[in-house]
Amino acid sequence: MRRPAGPDIPSDRLSPKVIPCGSEFGFKLDAARLEAAITPKTRWLMLNSPNNPCGAIYTQEEFAALGAVLQKHPRILVISDEIYEHIILGDKPFVPFVIACPELRERTLLINGVSKAYAMTGYRLGYAAGPKELIVAMNKTQSQTTTCPSAISQLAAAAALNGPQDFVRDANREYQARGAMVVEGLAAIDGLELQMPEGAFYAFPKCSAFIGKRTPDGQVIETDTDLANYLLRVGKVATVPGSAFGLEPYIRLSFATSRQQLEQAIVQMRDALALLV
Ligand SMILES: Cc1ncc(COP(=O)(O)O)c(C=O)c1O
Repeated sequence: MRRPAGPDIPSDRLSPKVIPCGSEFGFKLDAARLEAAITPKTRWLMLNSPNNPCGAIYTQEEFAALGAVLQKHPRILVISDEIYEHIILGDKPFVPFVIACPELRERTLLINGVSKAYAMTGYRLGYAAGPKELIVAMNKTQSQTTTCPSAISQLAAAAALNGPQDFVRDANREYQARGAMVVEGLAAIDGLELQMPEGAFYAFPKCSAFIGKRTPDGQVIETDTDLANYLLRVGKVATVPGSAFGLEPYIRLSFATSRQQLEQAIVQMRDALALLV
């Protein structure tokens, strides 16, 4: 991997820049906004498709347009987080970044893991593929920190990846049914706006209608974090505020749980939200 030299910037002077990708942009980054965000300090572009929290999937053309911008900036590396590659809820296919941008293969770090497709979160097993130089450096760092994932996790992950894949197909069908159920249930709640996600297993409704409202004990809901706290306290439902992902006011619900629990959660949310005035 050869990259042109650029200014050496101490790591404490580098910080992540979040480019807002709200619903008005289809929750996605486009070439113009990427180009506008790039500075001489830019080192990495981090992409995630299918996306957590909004469920968006980039098409081949959309990735290729981002790739064309990156061609002009040879110092920038790409992390493509494809951990939800198998959780596809509609007709839109998953496209790996390097398939859309083969010319960027040498500066793309693909990351993935067994947590989502195989429901093996507890095994703590992720993996990466990318330029040798990066993988060697990652190995060095890991060997001096955690040594390696446990042998049990490595063998379980190998069995999942190399074994029959029926589970992945069946789980995907179940996520599609749960997604449809949750989206329909939430869309019926006055004030929540959302669409069916294209992938992953999260519903991500916009909740601006509740900002400024008051709880029965007189507290004002000022942010989506206040709303998530209120839903937890009164509705007994755990959500994650959009602001935790750099986008507000939204709340994220996971539908990686049983349909029965989801049905109950929707009723509890509806009842709790109805108390806000
Ligand atoms: C986009 C994305 N990447 C990576 C991960 C990491 O998963 P894990 O730490 O379980 O491997 C998650 C988990 O929520 C995720 O949503």
